[in-house]
Amino acid sequence: MADLTTNLGGFQLKNPVMTASGTFGYGTEFSDFIDISRLGGIIVKGTTLHHREGNAYPRMAETPSGMLNAVGLQNRGVEYFAEKINPTLAAINTNVIVNVSGSTVEDYVATAEKIAYLPNINAIELNISCPNVKQGGMAFGTCTHAAEEVVSAVRKVYPKHLMVKLSPNVTDIVEIAKAAQFAGADSVSLINTLLGMAINAKTRRPVLSTVIVLVIFLLGIIGYSYLGVREYPSVDNPIITVSVSYPGANAEIIENQEVKIIEFDRRFLDKKVAILN
Ligand SMILES: Cc1cc2nc3c(=O)[nH]c(=O)nc-3n(C[C@H](O)[C@H](O)[C@H](O)COP(=O)(O)O)c2cc1C
Repeated sequence: MADLTTNLGGFQLKNPVMTASGTFGYGTEFSDFIDISRLGGIIVKGTTLHHREGNAYPRMAETPSGMLNAVGLQNRGVEYFAEKINPTLAAINTNVIVNVSGSTVEDYVATAEKIAYLPNINAIELNISCPNVKQGGMAFGTCTHAAEEVVSAVRKVYPKHLMVKLSPNVTDIVEIAKAAQFAGADSVSLINTLLGMAINAKTRRPVLSTVIVLVIFLLGIIGYSYLGVREYPSVDNPIITVSVSYPGANAEIIENQEVKIIEFDRRFLDKKVAILN
């Protein structure tokens, strides 16, 4: 029989087959169907510091090109995982990897620290596709600086195998992978969910588009009253401000006495140039 043992940067697996987080529960739910100990590893559901209800339903949309999901990391929190769920996983004869998510660096660190004390958990898969609440909702995994910050903070408290799960919704995933590696990741896991949108075939619009358009329209009206012409754009070069005033002149006077004369002279000049040629 072929030897499928896999060494993932020092982390030993029976074979390279692991389950995608969120699609296999905690593994035990599937034990009536397959012998889960035959897997190389089970990456369990996303776990956060506190209990999360997840997104409102519907959370799934089937499309001809694949399924869209918006589960929103529903889980009971790391304390519950450690006390109630983890003991049921102890008998599984394969690697159990916990997928860790958070909204701030502190969340990730506190969750990873708790998991570090669980002897049967061999690795963490750090899901950095979550929005960083402190930095205005931008996902940790879409910016090298934020990715590096969260990975190095977790690295300090988590001594076992640290796998970092990257988001494909970036310009250059290699940059983010390098940032994670630089910050101390042992491996990277590719990829998290691709962004998508389901369109309602009857209205031929995304379900939320009407609301979004209305919000943009209202913000536009409010913003318009505050927007003046930017007199001093922020450029490095010296700025020459040019202003012309015509005291007492209206648009008609300017057109007859300035614009038409200049146009006439220009036409005359063009003819002169043509004759000279
Ligand atoms: C129902 C569902 C729940 C998921 N939950 C999580 C999760 O909790 N944490 C995570 O990192 N990824 C989660 N994912 C993403 C998957 O683990 C996987 O990365 C993603 O589906 C990409 O694989 P695919 O392109 O083959 O679908 C979830 C995916 C699905 C479909």
